[in-house]
Amino acid sequence: MDFFKALTQRRSIRKFSGRRISETVVRKMIAAARQAPSSMDGQPWEFIVVRDARMKERLARFKNKWCPKEKQDYSADFMKGASVILVICSDKNRSFSRWIENGTIAATYVLLAASALGLGGTFMTGFNLKKPGQMRELRGLLRIPKRVNPVVMIPLGFPAEKPTRKSLRQLAGLIHHDRF
Ligand SMILES: Cc1cc2nc3c(=O)[nH]c(=O)nc-3n(C[C@H](O)[C@H](O)[C@H](O)COP(=O)(O)O)c2cc1C
Repeated sequence: MDFFKALTQRRSIRKFSGRRISETVVRKMIAAARQAPSSMDGQPWEFIVVRDARMKERLARFKNKWCPKEKQDYSADFMKGASVILVICSDKNRSFSRWIENGTIAATYVLLAASALGLGGTFMTGFNLKKPGQMRELRGLLRIPKRVNPVVMIPLGFPAEKPTRKSLRQLAGLIHHDRF
């Protein structure tokens, strides 16, 4: 698929058909993420491919539990309907203090690869710097070693919804020349 088509058609998908994403396609998305830039080319990523229904349920419960009050309109229950939840982690020993950036950029690559492959997903943060207990809990759930930080969880599947085009801010309002 044309890169710009994948870019413009990507939307967060929260409703999935029951169709399974094959292991080959999961590997394709991870292979795409592996191409992402990373601080000092540390390539610190570790990917956990969650297919187990009970684990998906635990992750949804975890996300709902730690959701701040002002965001509680957005339930994480839809995670249970994903074919796969991809948990993107950064190894701190390879991150050069940039584990958040390294993890989020890789997540963006996964979302774009998913879009190009006709799949959908949603970016969901796996940590909160102000609440270290959140990451501890996720580490415990997924048996992630201490040197590795979970950064983003992406429930993925074949879309069973077609979001309308979103309204974008006007380009002219975002661009500044030479000075703000
Ligand atoms: C940092 C970040 C955190 C997000 N967290 C959530 C989340 O917890 N739950 C959720 O349903 N969507 C989450 N999203 C998805 C956004 O709601 C979505 O990207 C936004 O509404 C724009 O819509 P679009 O992705 O379809 O363009 C998050 C996105 C980002 C970038």
